[in-house]
Parts: sequence; C-alpha cells; structure tokens
Amino acid sequence: MGQSLQGERVLLGVCAGIAAYKAAELVRRLRESGAQVRVVLTDGASHFVGAATFQALSGNPVRSSLWDAAAEAAMGHIELARWASRVLIAPCTADMLAKLAHGLADDLLSTLCLASTAPLALAPAMNNRMWLHPATQANLEIVRARGTEILGPADGGQACGETGPGRLLEPDAIVAALASNTEKNASKVLQDVRVLISAGPTFEDIDPVRYLGNRSSGKMGFALAAAAQAMGAQVTLVSGPTALPTPNGVQRIDVRSASEMRDAVLGGLPQDVYIGAAAVADYMPQRTSEEKIKKSSAMLVLELVRTPDILAEVARDTKRPRLVVGFAAETQALEDNARAKLDAKHVDMIAANRVGVAGSGFESDTNTLSVFWRDGSTQLGPTYKTEVARELLSLIAAQLKQP
Ligand code: PMT
Repeated sequence: MGQSLQGERVLLGVCAGIAAYKAAELVRRLRESGAQVRVVLTDGASHFVGAATFQALSGNPVRSSLWDAAAEAAMGHIELARWASRVLIAPCTADMLAKLAHGLADDLLSTLCLASTAPLALAPAMNNRMWLHPATQANLEIVRARGTEILGPADGGQACGETGPGRLLEPDAIVAALASNTEKNASKVLQDVRVLISAGPTFEDIDPVRYLGNRSSGKMGFALAAAAQAMGAQVTLVSGPTALPTPNGVQRIDVRSASEMRDAVLGGLPQDVYIGAAAVADYMPQRTSEEKIKKSSAMLVLELVRTPDILAEVARDTKRPRLVVGFAAETQALEDNARAKLDAKHVDMIAANRVGVAGSGFESDTNTLSVFWRDGSTQLGPTYKTEVARELLSLIAAQLKQP
C-alpha cells in the first residue's frame, strides 16, 4: 500500500461492538499508509479488544477515560484533540452516532469529537435493524449535514446471524476511502507546477569516519514535498542524509554533501519553484583525508572553506525558477536577518524559523514560520510541520498567480 495518508495524524475512536477486532487491523493499515495513529477506546470497546493490542500496534499510549490523571498529565484531552488531523471512529455504534448528532460529551471519545476541528469520519457497525431504525437514520442525516464522512456500512451476514446493512467496512476499504477523501480535499492549487525542494542536512566529510553535520531531520522539507504533491505539483526532492520515507509520488534524489546537493539542485532546473529547506553546511574541510586521521597530537586544526551557496546560485541561474524561496534558521533578530538574506540572495520569499528553542526549527514535529517577501510578511503556526507546509505552499501558489 502507498503512503496515501502520509503526514496525517489519525485519532481512531473504537466503540463497543464485535467489529472492534477489525480495528486492530485498521491501525496497522493506517500506519502502513503513512499516518500516525492514537487510539481512544470507549468503556465497552475494551471488553472486545484490550488496550495493550492497540498500544502495541499504534506505538502510542491508548486512552479510554477522561478521568485518567496520569494520561491527562502526559497529553491532556484538549491537546489530543488538537493533535489530530483526522478523527475516525471505527466501529461507530448507534449510541456513539446519537451522541455525536446531539453534541453529548459524556465520555472521552465524544468529548474529543466536540473539541476537535479535524475532519470527522465514521465507519458504522451495528445490527441491521438498529442501522435502519428511523432514529439512527435521523442521527445520520444530522452528522452528514455537518460534513461528517460516513464510510459504509457494508451489507451482508452479521455476527448476530442476520443479514443486511450494518457490517463494518474492511480496514483496507476504510483506509482507501479516507485517503481518497484527503486527496479530494487537498485543493489542487499547484496542479502541474514543477517544484524542487531541498531538505535535510549536508554532511561534509573530514575523513572516512568523521564528518561535519547539523541537526536537521528533514521533516520540514519532506512535509513540504508531501503537501506540494497533494496540491497537484510535480515534486523533486533533493535530500541530505535522513531516515525519512519518500512521500508518495515524489521524485527523490539523495545526496550527502553541499557540493553534491548543489549539483543535484542546479541539474534539476528548469523548475517553476525552488524551496531551499535544507540546512546546508556553510563550511566544509578544505581537504578530506583519505585515511582516518590519527589522534597523535593534543590539538587538531581543521581548515574549512565556504561551501557553494546553493540558494543564491539558483536565484541567479539563467534557468531561474519563477519563484525562489529560502529558509532562514535564526536564533535572534529574526526579521532583520531574514530580510537581509532576502536581499543578499535575491530570492522572492524567506521563511524564517527560530532554532535553539523547543517546538520550532530543527528536529521537532512543529514549527513557527515568519515569512517575508518584498512588500509583505505573515506568520504561520505554531503548528505541525505538515500544516505549516500546506500554509506556506498556499502562499507560494498565491504569489505564482501574481502578474
Ligand atoms: O529538517 P528539520 O529538522 O525539519 O528542520 C527544519 C530546518 C530548521 C532545517 C528548516 O526549517 C530550515 O530553517 N532550513 C534552513 C536552514 C539554514 O541553513 O538556514 P540558513 O539561514 O543557514 O540558510 C539560509 C538559506 O540559504 C536556506 O534556504 C539554506 O537552504 C540556503 N543555503 C545556505 C547555505 C548554503 N551553502 N547554501 C544554501 O542554499
């Protein structure tokens, strides 16, 4: 299965029903398709499948009560509601559907649904008469009218021995429906736009075992690549050394050093947009030793020379993209330093982030960007890098439309 839910954070609610056993498989399928998953069980659900199963499969703690002080201290329910980029309830019982239709918040899962602004999808599973009951159908209409996606139910034999509508959709079908809705929902504002993105660190070799590097994980650049692809762009991702999987539909070129990154980026032109999200080393050893340097003296002096400035070279290339966007990693005077880079490197837009603070910049899943262009600026976040990426690309799409 592809990475069709790449970057999504799915909060999976599991209600009490025999179909709860299929939710365990669903967690695996969601993760295989690129989503992070956190599971919330209703009280009754844990009679069917235990929390340990979901914890092992999701790789995250499982929540089931509003009154669990230790779990609340680790990640409060409002924080959990904010964390989710999608809320999926599978299986969704008639009781949970009724609660959602009428805005009840008398357990953790229904409270999370009220507190979250993420799109909600329900995969109902219940006895066919319960499903066809006018009360259930009326509740269904209420939630559907609010934009809730209803996935299934399937028709067929039921655990109670009856036949009819009310079977939980198979996990693969739920994931496929969720992914196709995600794709449809992503506006294709970059349809057929060619976007080249650099991501991750560069490693500058000192000798066969040592190098100069930095803390970039590649998360920001990879989030941009996934979001641009979802918005319809043809994406090429030039990546320094990272452990991240390639977003679905993205062409990836792996490099190690700043010089290799330069060659791959300039060789990748022409493009419509270049986004330099990589943390390119500013200096590299003047010479890479072919042999491991021995620790024979008390002090070792490394002679460093400047690396090529890839962003500046792209901006003055004869095949210059229509829009050249740089990043700026700053610890102080964010705006002054970012605007200085905007001018010095002749780029169209600079996205500046603070580094050295928790929740922003290197390694973290979240970021805050101050974006500057000649006659304007805006702030994106603080939020997840996947969201920041979508917002930055929307800005880029708007700039591309300008004459
Ligand atoms: O990868 P993550 O862990 O998710 O972290 C994300 C990030 C912090 C690395 C990212 O958001 C970011 O800020 N990237 C740019 C880091 C950086 O090198 O900033 P800078 O201010 O040193 O460089 C300014 C711009 O020039 C950047 O677009 C950089 O790619 C580019 N540059 C710098 C030096 C060089 N030799 N060539 C370049 O192209």
